[in-house]
Amino acid sequence: MKRALRGRIPWLDSVSSLAEAISELFDQEMSEGYVSSETLLGYFRSNHALVCYEVIDGAVVGAAIAKRMTDIADITPPEHVDEVKAMTDGSISSEFGYLSGVIVKRGYQGRGIGSRLCINATNWMRLLDLDSALAFGWEDKDGCHIEGAAARAGLHRSGIIDDFWLASVLADGSSCPTCGLTCHCSAVVLVGDLNA
Ligand SMILES: CC(C)(COP(=O)(O)OP(=O)(O)OC[C@H]1O[C@@H](n2cnc3c(N)ncnc32)[C@H](O)[C@@H]1OP(=O)(O)O)[C@@H](O)C(=O)NCCC(=O)NCCS
Repeated sequence: MKRALRGRIPWLDSVSSLAEAISELFDQEMSEGYVSSETLLGYFRSNHALVCYEVIDGAVVGAAIAKRMTDIADITPPEHVDEVKAMTDGSISSEFGYLSGVIVKRGYQGRGIGSRLCINATNWMRLLDLDSALAFGWEDKDGCHIEGAAARAGLHRSGIIDDFWLASVLADGSSCPTCGLTCHCSAVVLVGDLNA
């Protein structure tokens, strides 16, 4: 531990190595190719996206991605757009914050890091004067992993949609950490009023 601190701290060397470290964390804990370092660099440069992260002993152990959005259809698999719109009707403003990914390295989970990342993300949304927040919480056989952390940031369940990622996982050949190539996980639709 001490050696890592005395030596070179890779994530500080450049924004690109930070992006690579965050991309690798998502690869390891979610699925290979979840978000590329190029995409993350684009988010770092954008005023419409936030990448926040937590570093312990020179290593990135948690990260969250949030975006400013104007259309639910841009972040929802096409076959579920109507359901999401019906579930969020009246609670999502024309411009809203989208919490698109949160990850905490195994071994560091359950210590409040995920909650802090979600709170950082919603605070950024408030700085942009956004009124509402939306996230799709991954629910597998163990339940909705992010729901407790998201609740600490003011996002609460407004519904659940089965087989949410099934068609897109089949189409792009990606895989679900729980189900593999055919994903039957559900999405818990989490909504937050950022003025509450
Ligand atoms: C979901 C995830 C991001 C949550 O991150 P985390 O750091 O474990 O979250 P937190 O520690 O803030 O909260 C998780 C639980 O730990 C508990 N906790 C929070 N602070 C704690 C602390 N200091 N000590 C012990 N437990 C604590 C919370 O009560 C919470 O339980 P709850 O959800 O039943 O209420 C993380 O578990 C993860 O990366 N999972 C795999 C990927 C994933 O599912 N990502 C979300 C996709 S939508």
